[in-house]
Amino acid sequence: MNIPIFRPETVGTQIASNFEEAFNKIISEGDFIRGKKVIELEGKLADYLETFAVITTANGTDALLASLMATGINEGEEVITPAFGYPAAVEMMCLLKIKPVLIDVEWTTCNMDPAYLTEALSPKTKAVLPIHLFGTSAPIQEIAYFARTHQLTVIEDAAQAFGSEYDDGLRRKKLGTFGELGCTSFFPSKNLGCWGDGGAIFINKKDENLVKKLRRIVSHGQNQKYYHAELGFNSRLDTLQAAVLLQNMLTIEKSFEKRKRISERYCLELHDIAEIELPENNHGLAVPNLFTIRVPHQQRDKLKCYLLSEGIFSQVYYPLPIHLQQAYSPYIRVGSPLSISERLAKTVLSLPCFPSMTDIEQEKVILTLKRFFGKK
Ligand SMILES: Cc1ncc(COP(=O)(O)O)c(C=O)c1O
Repeated sequence: MNIPIFRPETVGTQIASNFEEAFNKIISEGDFIRGKKVIELEGKLADYLETFAVITTANGTDALLASLMATGINEGEEVITPAFGYPAAVEMMCLLKIKPVLIDVEWTTCNMDPAYLTEALSPKTKAVLPIHLFGTSAPIQEIAYFARTHQLTVIEDAAQAFGSEYDDGLRRKKLGTFGELGCTSFFPSKNLGCWGDGGAIFINKKDENLVKKLRRIVSHGQNQKYYHAELGFNSRLDTLQAAVLLQNMLTIEKSFEKRKRISERYCLELHDIAEIELPENNHGLAVPNLFTIRVPHQQRDKLKCYLLSEGIFSQVYYPLPIHLQQAYSPYIRVGSPLSISERLAKTVLSLPCFPSMTDIEQEKVILTLKRFFGKK
């Protein structure tokens, strides 16, 4: 029995007759680009997130690029962002000649450490861009407070955290809806995934002009067909993917529950292995996208190989922090000591955690891990 790090739910197990109908309708009407299902999805997503508006894009990276462009950050100005995580936002900043200012993350959550925000601030700082890594919230309340105090924009990278929540003491809100803008990805392995690439921008303040600007940016800067008012690019979610996402939205509560259950079981069964550190208890607020443990460096790669020899795929997200990546290092500013990011890169290991994972598969992962560490 081989256990992948992620297994997409396939057509066979997922397709429903109403979905087949929707798909066939799109095909027979040729409604492929910005079709009715895209508009319907944007409305449903905004309702689900309880936010002002949602604009879909071709992928999550485009959502970040468009958000950075819409925020009006100029060349040479700075955005504070974590040094550990997927570098899509940093990459887009580099392309726009915006300077990423990288700060360290917290050991237990792998997310931006707000203690370093003040140190990283400069007269050129225009925005803060936290990543909600692995499905767990960055300390968004502190980040939002800091941003308000210093008149900075917050753009959240919620690509791995669709559906996860943060409790601000008054109420629970979905991640990606705290900042002015939030971005997500619908890559198949994400909490809400499609059958290819997809992404979305959440516009969280009631600002029609910002919505219009973002719509222009993802449509070659056009304010009307063939009139290009500003620089933009082309980023559209296919209507077929919108139909997939609408179908998948019908079952997200079930699939989120499954992700949470898998994560809880790992926590319960692995907590007595002294050598490993488990993700922080987030009291059911996170929809775990990845179940990431920390293993001493000397044992991490051996464990990964051992799991593989037993047919279990695990993955190191991420083996090199952003400031040490060859592509970005010439463009960044280091905003704090980055030792935790460097240590995490040497110790993190993500275990299979996806809705179609069976109890038997999880049992095997748990037993194999226990065996590696000499536990019964
Ligand atoms: C944290 C994070 N941000 C951004 C992205 C980019 O999303 P996409 O692959 O849809 O462009 C990803 C994708 O893995 C991600 O994990």
